[in-house]
Amino acid sequence: MRNMTDAFALAEHLAKHHQSHLLVGVAALAEAERTVYLARLAEIDWLELHHRLTLHTAGDVGPARVLDQGERQRRKVELEALGESAYAAGQVAVLMVAGGQGTRLGSTAPKGCLPAAPHSGKSIYQLQAEKVLSLSRRVKKAVPFLVMTSPMTDGETREFFAAHSNFGLAKEQVRFFSQGTVPSLDQQDRALMSGPGKLLENPDGHGGCFTALVKSGNLARLRSEGVKQIVYIQVDNILVPVDDALMVGAALAEKSDVLTKVLEKANPDEKVGHLVKIGTRDAIIEYTELTPEQTRSRNAQGDLVYRWGSPAMHCWSVDFLAGLADRGYKLPLHRSGKPLKAWLDGKIQEVKGWKNERFIFDLIPEAKTSIGLAIDRDDEFAPIKNATGVDSPASAVELAHRQFAGWLAAAGVKLSLPPAARIEISPRFAATKSQFLARWDGRVKELTGDYYLEE
Ligand code: UTP
Repeated sequence: MRNMTDAFALAEHLAKHHQSHLLVGVAALAEAERTVYLARLAEIDWLELHHRLTLHTAGDVGPARVLDQGERQRRKVELEALGESAYAAGQVAVLMVAGGQGTRLGSTAPKGCLPAAPHSGKSIYQLQAEKVLSLSRRVKKAVPFLVMTSPMTDGETREFFAAHSNFGLAKEQVRFFSQGTVPSLDQQDRALMSGPGKLLENPDGHGGCFTALVKSGNLARLRSEGVKQIVYIQVDNILVPVDDALMVGAALAEKSDVLTKVLEKANPDEKVGHLVKIGTRDAIIEYTELTPEQTRSRNAQGDLVYRWGSPAMHCWSVDFLAGLADRGYKLPLHRSGKPLKAWLDGKIQEVKGWKNERFIFDLIPEAKTSIGLAIDRDDEFAPIKNATGVDSPASAVELAHRQFAGWLAAAGVKLSLPPAARIEISPRFAATKSQFLARWDGRVKELTGDYYLEE
């Protein structure tokens, strides 16, 4: 509810949504604080917070159209040429979501500041930014690099980039914008507080990037610059490519509103979102929405129905996003039960409650044309979610090391490496295997330990 200057109207509005408790003690706040607080209460869409999302049913689920490895190979030349011409014409931007709370990682600093390179100790931000730099140099265009932060990570992220001279990228190329926040609720759906005059809010999920892209003016700017495709990446996958002419070419050739990269599941029970078709539209169904029987079900050909897992990499058509923005589309909220730290009875206490987030893949069912593109897991996927163990900095570094060792082996270098040895190839030297093979000059024939190749 906007422009709610009338205190009575606000009180009535909050009462209607069972949030009257938020006005208790308001009179004791300093005037400036009170103004900010009341304005925030007035702008929140309380209705959407109470609205229960209907999850997809598994009723009429079929396979999504996926360009599998065979089709990729057959159409490689055609698709890469299309993608290359889009890069060369300045029609491609990269959008990296780097907000969120990194709860599982347990660090308050932005995830991107974490060192995550096998040898150099470069941060995730540096690794991702250098891929954009390498791409920009290769295609001789300053590829726009949009970085979505959260209000909690925005300042630190900007300072980090500034302290490192934007990792070599031009200033107007790197475009920061912040996602929104959503109130966290207690088990009775009442908004929680984090202190007097302060709501307890969480970043609004990676899906927040859609609204934030529009609100910040960045989508309009991309359109005015002639950008047609947005390569969407998540900061915490250190192997995610941004230089992928085949993907961009596939999106263009298939005139897709959205392209989703997919992985063949490692086993039927792998905990991923699945790209499927429901009725006439594609959608991602999370494993949490399925029973084990559904997850393992097979079609008449014996293939897994939920065969393709999504590692959260997309290519979005700018026209598609602009069309949604023009009709005021808003992604729905998903709620998940979490232990939360809230200000209750004059002190911070741990309570069970609801965190609300928007998911980027909920845009997929809005797309008239959606396709999947099969990728090789080892080439593109090394996520950092946890502090230790699976999907940790250590496991991602190990995967990156293995990828670089694989490139050297493919170039004919003999590798006799002890387990602790670490290989790293900077994106400034080569950001993809084919670039590496094209540039490699045979400077070493054999490796028996650590090796680091910068530009
Ligand atoms: P995750 O879903 O893994 O969330 O994010 P997270 O906040 O990083 O970690 P947890 O779940 O609290 O442990 C996947 C990607 O989406 C971004 C993250 O930066 C990461 O790149 N993200 C997530 C946002 O940008 N904003 C959000 O609100 C949530």
